[in-house]
Amino acid sequence: MKRTPITDRLIFLEPDDMRLFKACAGLMVQGARKLVIDANMGPETAAFLQTEQPQAAIISHYHLDHGVWGTVAQDHTEADVFIPSGEETYLTDLDFFVNQTAGPYGLAEAWRRFSVEDCGYRELKHYTPYDPEHAFADQGLAIVCLDTGGHSPSHRSFYFPEDKVLFSGDMGVDRFGPWYGWADCDLRRLVEAILTLRSLPVDVLLTSHGGMLTSAITEAWDLALRRIVERENYVAQRLEKGRLPEAIVAEGIFFPQKSQVPEPMQSFLYMWDTAMYDHHRKMLEEGGLVRFFPELRSLKP
Ligand SMILES: [Fe+2]
Repeated sequence: MKRTPITDRLIFLEPDDMRLFKACAGLMVQGARKLVIDANMGPETAAFLQTEQPQAAIISHYHLDHGVWGTVAQDHTEADVFIPSGEETYLTDLDFFVNQTAGPYGLAEAWRRFSVEDCGYRELKHYTPYDPEHAFADQGLAIVCLDTGGHSPSHRSFYFPEDKVLFSGDMGVDRFGPWYGWADCDLRRLVEAILTLRSLPVDVLLTSHGGMLTSAITEAWDLALRRIVERENYVAQRLEKGRLPEAIVAEGIFFPQKSQVPEPMQSFLYMWDTAMYDHHRKMLEEGGLVRFFPELRSLKP
């Protein structure tokens, strides 16, 4: 793993390998106490936590790559594990997690197996739910916890106003763009959240899957927004031409060339693109994104 000091109190943590939802980039905060956010460093997680012994382990949202390390923290540290309020049951009840995610798409068993056997999902037993207004004030520095739901119901981002550093989490500033591949994602809230983060004064943007940005940050947010708008246009144009939903999904909203991917991942990719198609179709039925966000019209191509 790679540790990049951002300030004297913030260290950006990047695992060596983030493929297949087995890890994500995180942040360590060394204030009055030590806390870590999304410290899923893949195979190095246990050794990392054992050495660092943080007092607080904060999960930004329940998705596998961001959530499964909570139980590792409980095995190897005395840390309080903080879960975003509203997502507790996803992390504490495997049946609920599976039924709320892959359940509606008929892939519950394959997804359960993948989550447990490949990604190490275990039900979390002890935790503290936290709200967006939670300040983690005992850390001795200002951490503004932001409600950036939409990618997941209670996704959180973390802003350090004194240093103008933002840990955005999974907001889509990366080579893949924003993701909303479960039924519990919310496209409108996601765009709202991106616009909120885009408006903050930020010198250093730390992302879960797109590394660190120190320049052209507004442009990076615009690109994330543009990708959503382009996907909406793509769906709208094909629907106008009379293409069937299955054909649009097969061609790909987020994942093209799915047919070359081995199972069970191929089925998962179809499932996620189906959900993303459904979110776009619902938004189009409500008048499209620009109806709610007229500022998207002025995004430069
Ligand atoms: Fe996520």
